[in-house]
Amino acid sequence: MAIRSGKLFNFSRLAAIACAGVMLASFTGCNKTGEKSGSDGGNKADLKIGFIVKQPEEPWFQLEWKFAHKCADKYGFELMKIGAPDGEKALTAIDTLASSGAKGFVICTPDVKLGPAIVQKAKVNNLKLIAVDDRFLGADGKPMEKVHYLGISARKIGENVGEELWKEMQNRKWPVEETAAGMVTFNELETARERTGGAKDALVKAGFPADKIFEAPQKTTDVPGAFDAVNILLTQHPEVKHWLFFGLNDTAVMGAVRAAEGRQIAAQDTIGIGINGTDAITEFEKPNPTGFFGSMLLSARDHGYKTTEMMYNWITKDEEPPLDTRTVGVFITRDNYKEMLKEQGITE
Ligand code: GLA
Repeated sequence: MAIRSGKLFNFSRLAAIACAGVMLASFTGCNKTGEKSGSDGGNKADLKIGFIVKQPEEPWFQLEWKFAHKCADKYGFELMKIGAPDGEKALTAIDTLASSGAKGFVICTPDVKLGPAIVQKAKVNNLKLIAVDDRFLGADGKPMEKVHYLGISARKIGENVGEELWKEMQNRKWPVEETAAGMVTFNELETARERTGGAKDALVKAGFPADKIFEAPQKTTDVPGAFDAVNILLTQHPEVKHWLFFGLNDTAVMGAVRAAEGRQIAAQDTIGIGINGTDAITEFEKPNPTGFFGSMLLSARDHGYKTTEMMYNWITKDEEPPLDTRTVGVFITRDNYKEMLKEQGITE
């Protein structure tokens, strides 16, 4: 049976409560934020591994946690899940882990520029570290390639988005002259730049005019951030009849689609394609199709389970993970999302 959006939101509420607990914990000095996993109650359960995420309210990160928890259950260690929406909370979270006796952690940092500070804190506290999703930036502004990282093949996945946008535009027989593309950007993030850059290049390669691809920079990587950015863009281009939208992830495209709806642009005049596939579920479950046409479904299982398993093997067997691991995505629409989510183990 498929998880209904309601269940995901319940999960979201749970995450919010857990998150509030974390914040409370940091005030009271109580630092136990995770749940004990594993049934043997033996030594393995003494091992603690942290999993810190930047946006605990996003279904993507809830699923990473869900799969990380499965890994903890399998090996019988304690997983400490911590939501850290800003730099200060991320650094405090590492202190919390250290004082709880954790041996390592996986992190999607709220700010990639915090990379050197996180590495330093991990080192001082003798904690092993794996970065997931968002790669750290060094003081020189370059990716920190010596920090173990698991992320998506961002450029390739972005190119697939561009190809699918073009394909659907052809299906709908939209004349190029009447069409423009809204590219929701968040250039501070390498993975975001690669995703949107890949989509743009694929569109241009297919024949879409580069000067009709307009950038809408989002200030925050959530639905309101994208909504505001695209709203400005739509005000500037009332002449455009049909819109293509793409961005860093599903929420970027959901914000774009909501902005188009707000300006009475019909769903059939909008093709939005996101990335994640997880946040898109609520969109696909709406009875009538919206402008959110499809998404590249990523592997939350790899990002949650595999990173945690790598950390477990590193700590317990001294097996160092590869420095750079990349995952793939598959295209989903309203037509196939149910079976694809099931295949990925996201729904039962
Ligand atoms: C970034 C995005 C998330 C998700 C991950 C996947 O962190 O903000 O929504 O796409 O990448 O790696």
